[in-house]
Formats: sequence, structure tokens, C-alpha cells
Amino acid sequence: MKFVAKRLDVVEPSPTLAITAKANALKASGIDVVGFGAGEPDFDTPEHIKVAAKRAMDQGKTKYTPVSGIPTLKDAIIAKFKKENNLDYEKNQIIVGTGGKQVIYNFFMATINPGDEVIIPAPYWVSYADIVRLAEGTPVIVPTTLENNFQITPTQLKKAISPKTKVFLFNSPSNPTGSAYSKNDVYDLCEILVKERIITLSDDIYEKIIYDGLEFINPAMVSPEMKEKTFIINGVSKAYSMTGWRIGYGAGNAEIVKNMDTMQGQSTSNASSISQAAAEEALKGDQSEVEVMRKAFDVRRKLIVDLLNQIPGVNCRMPQGAFYAFPYIDKLYNLPKFDKIFSEANEKSRSKVFCDILLEKYNVAAVPGVAFGDDNALRLSYALGEADIRKGLERIQTMVKDLS
Ligand SMILES: Cc1ncc(COP(=O)(O)O)c(C=O)c1O
Repeated sequence: MKFVAKRLDVVEPSPTLAITAKANALKASGIDVVGFGAGEPDFDTPEHIKVAAKRAMDQGKTKYTPVSGIPTLKDAIIAKFKKENNLDYEKNQIIVGTGGKQVIYNFFMATINPGDEVIIPAPYWVSYADIVRLAEGTPVIVPTTLENNFQITPTQLKKAISPKTKVFLFNSPSNPTGSAYSKNDVYDLCEILVKERIITLSDDIYEKIIYDGLEFINPAMVSPEMKEKTFIINGVSKAYSMTGWRIGYGAGNAEIVKNMDTMQGQSTSNASSISQAAAEEALKGDQSEVEVMRKAFDVRRKLIVDLLNQIPGVNCRMPQGAFYAFPYIDKLYNLPKFDKIFSEANEKSRSKVFCDILLEKYNVAAVPGVAFGDDNALRLSYALGEADIRKGLERIQTMVKDLS
């Protein structure tokens, strides 16, 4: 088509957003849909954060801010890193963007040349590979296994590194698997990374949603040498239930930050001034609601995994973080009735066909694993109430019975 830029050839529209839109359309037409699709907490933003935003408006903080963020928010981010991660940063090493997604986008735009390789362990968050391709880089996807808790092993990492490798993407706790790396696991990977001329992009967005007393750790926390080689992205979307406010931030090498600032300055400029004030309050203010939400997720996590594993042919590991269950359903693909539907569907992906039936016939929205680089699974977000979790799981059970 005449008005389509070639660069669009390499990207797909976000499948999670597409599923959510489809589920919302069904809901709007009066159908009772159980939505396990969305990647956002269902809680409201804590009141004291909203109050801070209103105050910012009343004080006339409604103008452009410095592109990379207001200085007081940067101070709050620096204090957060010091207090929670024992990491020291200067202001010129911090950038605030319109969501963690924009920070990741600008990071790749500012660092990648055509042909540079980016190692991405799969299953991975949908946007990573597409952003790398948009930046004309080459995603090198390394599949992990359910047996290995969806974690890349040092041997796999070593094998994936080539002279063209520029970035290793590390995401713990992970979207979509909920897997979180232990201290030992991260140290083992860093033993390799520290010897290489590679930047580790550590996506810490689910840092605060972690269970069973597991301590959060990222590669920058391993050693001063690894801190030099790590760029962190984080944000307020998930921890403070602030997805709509669109504030994320990055921390690392000052030159990279400067180049990201240039990228952002020629696209969106600063993130919303009101949202920045809200994010500052989120980081500096009362943290008790973060724990209330984490505890609620923990209860739902156990419920959903238990219910999933009661369905014959479904195998779900207990996630250690985030708010996603990633059940393996590959055994269900062998059911003759499913196989028949699949062969008639003219589709390449079994998980997509499964999710299509699930949504259209049983009114349950889930994201097919293929969207995350693993066709054997589904991703179910448990950011919804317990009654809905039970209702949705009953419907999945009915679908499996009908297929059996
Ligand atoms: C792994 C991961 N990283 C980053 C983001 C970006 O979040 P936001 O742009 O809302 O800060 C998301 C959101 O879904 C995510 O799942």
C-alpha cells in the first residue's frame, strides 16, 4: 500500500492489547467476559498519589518540564535506587519517560545499529523483539524450558553470545512466566556477562511483586563492574497500579541517557508533568498499599495455579513474581476434537486457536503463548477478583471437557 512505511513490515500490533480490545468489545455488547488478558493491576491508584497529582495541577505545574524528567522526581528515583537496591546514581544517569515501554524503546533506538544482536530469553514480553526490530537490530531468541523455570542457563547465554551481541535482555520477575531469578542464578549469569562488551538491559518493572520471601535482585546489584554494564528500566505502572499515568524511568550510563534524551526530545519531549508529580509521590510517600496489592496477588496466584493444575492435561508452575500464570497446555493439543478444529482453522498457532475458541465460545480472554515465543502455553493475568478467577477457570474446565 502506498502510505505504509517499510519499517512496519517487521512489527506486529501488540497481541495483548488486541485481545483486551476484543474482550472489551464483547463486554460492551453485553456479554459477560472473564478477562485474563490485561497486563495491569485491577486496583485503583492509591489516594495519596491522586491527591499529589491534583495538588500539582492546582499549583500550576502544567507546563513543559525538562525532557528527561523533573529534578525532584529524579531525586526520588535516585533515593529509591539507594534505599532499595543499594545503587548510586547521579541525575545525569536518570531518564523519565512515558511508561517503561518508551524508556525501553528509546534505549534501543539510542544504542542499536543495524545488525546488532540482542539476546532475549523466551518466553519474553511481546514488545521486546518488535522494538529491537524497529531499531534495526536482530533479536536472538533463546528458548527456555518449563523444567528450568523458564530461566536462561549460563551455558545457553554463553552459546548465544556472538561478536555482534550488543545487549542481553534480563527480565525478572518475568512477564509472561512469573519466573524470578534467585541471587545465585543472577551471579552465575553475571560471571559471563562481566567479561563481555555487552550491556544488560534489566527490566525491573515487576520488582515489587515478588512472593515467598524471594529477594529481588538485578545484575547491577551484583558488583560495581556489572553496574557499569547494566541499564535498568523500571516504573510505577505495576507496583502502584498506575498504568494509565504512563511513567517509567531508566538508569545507567550517562552517555546512553544523553542519547535517549535526544531521541525523546525529538519525539514526545517530557512525560506528563502531572503524572511526574504523581510518580514522585508514589516513590516518596506511604508504601503500605504496595504490600496490600502484593498480598492480594499472592492469594490469587495460589488459587489460579491450584485450579489450573486440577484440569487434566494442564501443567502450571507456581510463579514467583508478577501477576501472570503461564500454564502449559500442549497435552490438550493432542485431543482429537481440538486437533480437528485446528486443522480446519488454517492457522499456524495452536495456542492462538485455543484462545480464539476460549474467547468466542466460552467468553474467557487469555493471551496465546505464541505471542511470547512459546506456543505450548497461555498467559493468564490474575489481576482480577477471586470470584472472577473461579468463574473463568470453570469455563476453561468446561472447554477442556467439551474437547475431551
Ligand atoms: C515486562 C514489562 N516491561 C515493561 C512494561 C512497560 O510498562 P509501562 O510502559 O506501563 O511502564 C511492561 C508492561 O506490560 C512489561 O510487562
